[in-house]
Amino acid sequence: MTDLLSIVLAAGEGTRMRSSLPKVLHPVGGLPMVSHVVRAALAAGSSRMAFVVGPNHDAVRQQMLALAADAHVVEQTERLGTGHAVRQAEAAFATAAGNVVVLYGDTPFVSADTIQTVAARLDAGAEVVVVGFEPDDPTGYGRLLTEGDRLVAIREHRDASAAERLVGLCNSGIMGFRADTLREVIGRIGNSNAKGEYYLTDAVELANADGRKVEFTVVPEREVMGLDDRSKLARAEGLFQESQREAFMKAGVTLKDPASVYFSWDTEIGQDVTIFPNVVFGPGVKIANGVEIRAFCDIEDVVIGEGTSIGPFARIRGGATLGANVHLGNFVEVKKSILHDGVKAGHLAYLGDAEIGAATNIGAGTITANYDGVNKSKTIIGERAFIGTNSSLVAPVRIGDGAYVATGSVVTKDVEAEALAIGRVRQENKQGYAPKLRARAQAIKAAKAGK
Ligand code: UD1
Repeated sequence: MTDLLSIVLAAGEGTRMRSSLPKVLHPVGGLPMVSHVVRAALAAGSSRMAFVVGPNHDAVRQQMLALAADAHVVEQTERLGTGHAVRQAEAAFATAAGNVVVLYGDTPFVSADTIQTVAARLDAGAEVVVVGFEPDDPTGYGRLLTEGDRLVAIREHRDASAAERLVGLCNSGIMGFRADTLREVIGRIGNSNAKGEYYLTDAVELANADGRKVEFTVVPEREVMGLDDRSKLARAEGLFQESQREAFMKAGVTLKDPASVYFSWDTEIGQDVTIFPNVVFGPGVKIANGVEIRAFCDIEDVVIGEGTSIGPFARIRGGATLGANVHLGNFVEVKKSILHDGVKAGHLAYLGDAEIGAATNIGAGTITANYDGVNKSKTIIGERAFIGTNSSLVAPVRIGDGAYVATGSVVTKDVEAEALAIGRVRQENKQGYAPKLRARAQAIKAAKAGK
């Protein structure tokens, strides 16, 4: 394929989001919207990337560079329009051969397919290709003025005549250029229009005036929806979740109540997994075949082995690995821990910074005391161990293979393999003492009543 430079425009202020977070960093499916765009551009085979960011948008720059470290990043200090924004990235296409595609950082659903279609049309002889769509309400969008297959001009809403405003085909903002064509036209874009901005869309008329071939292609509205306020963000999240649910069900996952299960952009699930209602997956979850996740679980950053069952009401986070046939029951929290095959923690436990050997049983109320207010420490438990209920394991501490910890113990010292650790006050029974206690209590009550 010809060289492809993708320029992602992300210098907008995003004021309608009413947020201290830059608009393009608001997540869809747990991933900042701009990262969806960068991923699509990379998947479409972009050989180079350029990012146009706003002033004081270091976080945006970092987010984009995380996916494309060798991208050309420029700051647009004054927001003078899309034509001006693309011109800021001129160094990236000043000498380039091949094609250039301009994308917006706030349209997360743009697909690699669409970018490839644009690139293919350029390879086939078009010099400019614009991606159009037919929105339910075209108000505010630039209109595509066409003659047959030819795109004659893009008229911005504010500059359009009444007749032009009747056109339903609109500009999505995604535009492809041959690099030499872009170089030719970009410097000639002026700003004598209703907004006083440099419109990238004027490139269409300029290219036509030069006798160049200008084409358009049409995609569904959903793919190019721009998210500039919280209600569009919510709608996009809904669409994203719906498509994830459908895809997982097609791939062999049972969702008892699909609408109440939320996935991340990177959730991976095997076959014959059953997910009960009200389960939320944060980023970084990989689930093997045959896993069951019961209701009301919050799960992120974990690899879950075959046949494991989780919940109801469990929380897993912070980088965890669960082996095969692990069982975690209600009110169990696991953070940054490795639980080997067959570990069971059926109820009420906190397992943090721990490694737990195969087939070990963790009793109800077990807590790994992993934090001293300053440092985090590890709890290492061997295989086939048995941790009695209501035990505190004060890290750093090691418990050997096959060891027993007696119920209610506070374990501060390492426990050898096959040993029994009892860390609690020894029980004492005082014969005949109960009546004395009762008499004393009754005397206190009588004294109070007599006052
Ligand atoms: C633009 C198009 C319009 C199209 C619409 C689709 C122009 C002149 N108009 O409208 O035809 O229908 O998108 O949503 O191109 N940006 C910058 N710097 C700027 C200006 C914009 O980086 O100086 C970025 C924004 O962050 C955003 C994108 O460009 O990602 C579009 O900007 P926006 O103001 O939303 O679009 P319009 O210019 O109104």
